[in-house]
Amino acid sequence: MLSMNKMRFSAILSMVLFAATVYSQKAGDNGISVSEKAKIDALINAMTLEEKVGQLSLYQADWDVTGPILNTNHLNLIKEGKAGAIFNAYTVDGVRHLQQMAVEESRLKIPLIFGYDVIHGHRTIFPIPLAQSCSWNLSAIEQTERIAAREATAEGLNWTFAPMVDISRDPRWGRVAEGAGEDTWLGCKVAAARVRGFQGTDYKAGNTLMACTKHFAAYGAPQAGREYGTVDMSMISLYEWYLPPFRACVDAGVGSLMTAFNEIAGVPSTANKWLMTDLLRKDWGFHGFVVTDYTSINEMVDHGNAENIKDAARLAFNAGVDMDMEGSAFLDYLPGLLKEKKVTLQDIDHAVRLILEAKTKLGLFDDPYRYCNKSRQEKEVMTAENLDFARKMVSESCVLLKNPDQVLPISENVRSIAIIGPLGDSKKDMLGNWTAAGNWEKCITLVEGIKSRVKDEVEVYYEKGCNTNDNDRSGFDAAVKIAEKADFVVLAMGENGWMSGEASSRSSIGIPGVQNELAEIIIKTGKPVALVLFNGRPLVITKMAALPLAILETWFGGTQAGNGIADVLFGVVNPAGKITMTFPRNEGQIPIFYNGKNTGRPLNPADSSDRYLSRYLDCPNDPLFPFGYGLSYTKFTYSNLRTTVDGNKINVAVQVANSGNRDGEEVVQLYVRDKVGSVTRPVKELKGFQKVLIKKGETKTITFNLTTDDLAFYHPDLKKYWEPGEFVVFVGTNSAETLSESITVK
Ligand code: GLC
Repeated sequence: MLSMNKMRFSAILSMVLFAATVYSQKAGDNGISVSEKAKIDALINAMTLEEKVGQLSLYQADWDVTGPILNTNHLNLIKEGKAGAIFNAYTVDGVRHLQQMAVEESRLKIPLIFGYDVIHGHRTIFPIPLAQSCSWNLSAIEQTERIAAREATAEGLNWTFAPMVDISRDPRWGRVAEGAGEDTWLGCKVAAARVRGFQGTDYKAGNTLMACTKHFAAYGAPQAGREYGTVDMSMISLYEWYLPPFRACVDAGVGSLMTAFNEIAGVPSTANKWLMTDLLRKDWGFHGFVVTDYTSINEMVDHGNAENIKDAARLAFNAGVDMDMEGSAFLDYLPGLLKEKKVTLQDIDHAVRLILEAKTKLGLFDDPYRYCNKSRQEKEVMTAENLDFARKMVSESCVLLKNPDQVLPISENVRSIAIIGPLGDSKKDMLGNWTAAGNWEKCITLVEGIKSRVKDEVEVYYEKGCNTNDNDRSGFDAAVKIAEKADFVVLAMGENGWMSGEASSRSSIGIPGVQNELAEIIIKTGKPVALVLFNGRPLVITKMAALPLAILETWFGGTQAGNGIADVLFGVVNPAGKITMTFPRNEGQIPIFYNGKNTGRPLNPADSSDRYLSRYLDCPNDPLFPFGYGLSYTKFTYSNLRTTVDGNKINVAVQVANSGNRDGEEVVQLYVRDKVGSVTRPVKELKGFQKVLIKKGETKTITFNLTTDDLAFYHPDLKKYWEPGEFVVFVGTNSAETLSESITVK
């Protein structure tokens, strides 16, 4: 009897202990266990008001400059416990030095978070995000962020101000370089992949970065494409086109969001309570914290939304901002605002809790130096494996725009190549913008990549010929001379690395300087010519595209640019990239994007005789190159599109044949048009894609399965649902060349 009771007791005890363990470890929605919460509560109770608002303050170290410097006092603020996080500082020694000040000199020894703009790689720099989106390879994009996170956390960092998920339909805006192009559906997929890559599945792993989705919201729609410009749009447009990638990141568990500089319909994003509290937290259930963009609280005075910085601090804090980047507005004014009862201690404590929860999840309270591991820094940065992956990503991000008479790939019979242009041997430009800790000296230029590929079997000549952006023609003659003596000419032209990115809007987006002129002269030599284009945005290359030359879009490929491009030029890799932003014929067409509305007087390209149609007098409506466009060294033929409707399911099948003479990958794209809606619908919308390898001579059947949920759209009441009726299904190699079939879904 006794033994039976003993057994029962021990069974009950073990169950109680197990339950207690689970309960104590049981994380709430925000991933914080009961015991961790208790520690945070105790810390908040011990903090002074100054220390609390200090946790809500982010300052930049003087290692890199990414905005106007308002504060040079960050070291004292750290020691006084008045800084919650530091950005623009990295390396184990550098971070350890600052972390020691926080955890050994401040009163409560609260560790700092260290953030940086790890936008497309940390030390190994990958192609700019816009380029990566043209790979349509979501797992590869996720992997680049995985590598970036490993390298950045090996150098002291634990927070990145990425992914940037701003949808944009205006290539005059320089920051299109940082995003995933014009399409919301694809933008959502890329955004979630990047959050997964950065954050992995375990914040405490020590090699994952807390991500920070930006810029919330609609920063990519400035009037006239002018940087920091006013944004004004309908709520339906905001919900349909600009908000979904942020929602995708919240659903993927992103740890933080960054506000946008711009106003939306008269209210600066940084003071927009509807955006940051009602929508982000109440509707979407976001548990992380919101940091401002660089001094964007202070800038509300210039916006004309606040009389002074104190008023701006009140507005931003009460709207839902938790952390102030570089502006010192919270540190300087929240204590006074509390005394005046214009903010509440409850809200201050809540914001502090969110910051402390992030530090807990990052494991910084367990070990403030967990990201300061010298041996990781020596072993995990710019490894051969990372560089190999970067090289593959370069090739996969390239887009073949033109290839008359199969100029490319460069024939094996070519014995001499002339490389001409300002971007042929420029290491600095290969990185593009937002290169953080990237080391330009380690970049492989196009000249280096080609020489490395051909070794001593082919003569390689190089002449810069001209600069990217001036009228100096003194190099033309030397360029012509090497073109005349070579079998093949590669033009390396485009923008320099700093003509895109932040504060880099351009009103005219052609290839700058006298590069076009030089290209026209080189063409006259009669040699086979391939233009390798370097740029951070779609350019107006209409004149260049009229010349008899091949055009390979390579964007800014980063550390391995030259090698990855050479792999495509020589056919080691068959290009499969597809542009994710429309290339306009001229600036007058902008904003131009594939998923526009039909209007009440649509132009019928087959019969444009009628004057009174939606058109220009001096330019076609269609772009130079449409969304989803990209050629291959082989040829893909689409046939037998079949669509069946089965209740709420829509099943699509198409055959794609590789009728060329080499294997290749094809991004098969699925679009849908809703013919009639209570809100007008775009002429087509991307609803799926598959990137498939099809061997030469092979035919594959590609299938897609949609449901009526995929047909839903926002209504004036901002509810999202679909409407029965007639739809058109399109499948093709880009948004303009498709097979189509009408269906009715009831
Ligand atoms: C910049 C950018 C933002 C960046 C931040 C920190 O102004 O707008 O994208 O993350 O400041 O560098």
